[in-house]
Amino acid sequence: MIVAANFKTNMTRQSTREYMDVLGAFLSKAQYDDTIMVFPPATALDRFDADIVIGAQNAYATRNGAYTGEIGLEQLEEFDINTLLIGHSERRHVLGETQEDIIHKFNFFKAQGFKIIYCIGEPIEIRESGSDALMEYLECQLDGIDLGYDGLIVAYEPVWAIGTGLTPSTDDVLLIHNALKKMIQRPLLYGGSVKPENAKAIMALSSVDGVLVGGASLKIDDFKSIIQSTDSRI
Ligand code: 13P
Repeated sequence: MIVAANFKTNMTRQSTREYMDVLGAFLSKAQYDDTIMVFPPATALDRFDADIVIGAQNAYATRNGAYTGEIGLEQLEEFDINTLLIGHSERRHVLGETQEDIIHKFNFFKAQGFKIIYCIGEPIEIRESGSDALMEYLECQLDGIDLGYDGLIVAYEPVWAIGTGLTPSTDDVLLIHNALKKMIQRPLLYGGSVKPENAKAIMALSSVDGVLVGGASLKIDDFKSIIQSTDSRI
């Protein structure tokens, strides 16, 4: 299982360090063979003394250069970071990244051998248009992405489930993940209002290889509890 925490625009350099100390100590005592990832804000990227993959929430497709406000490969290499979120719905819908921007970014970091957590997910109006429209929408978000790339992990995160407390039923998650698995033979995460109360049921689903957690990852006890839920599948 992969259990990933996306802090978004939360936490500071100091609070991230304190969090990583607690999480690192928890993981070193427990016997999980899961992959734990944390995506702190760019200002808190660093090296941590823990068995945790640190990834960046975003980066620009450049080594360095004149791109005010962005970070590139050089800033990630300083901390040996080679894991990146691409295509998150907040970058698509709030920050206006187009599929073309995303493909360009994907190809750049793929060429650098990065592990890429590639996010897809439909807004509510697509959801309400039925399952054909839904799958068509998700397929468009996979357009131009090398689905055979061995550093690829896909995260299915319905936009309407992000930060809302709403989640699809486990039957729906299973249905969509199964359909996606026909196209993508890579690990497939679910994201969107994952919390301690629903993590076990979601991770018990055969086509769910892990979760990408936003809000609930900010509380270390909740994130630890979600990690403990990985035991649900034998
Ligand atoms: P929430 O867990 O807050 O719904 O966020 C999910 C998400 O966007 C993770 O990338």
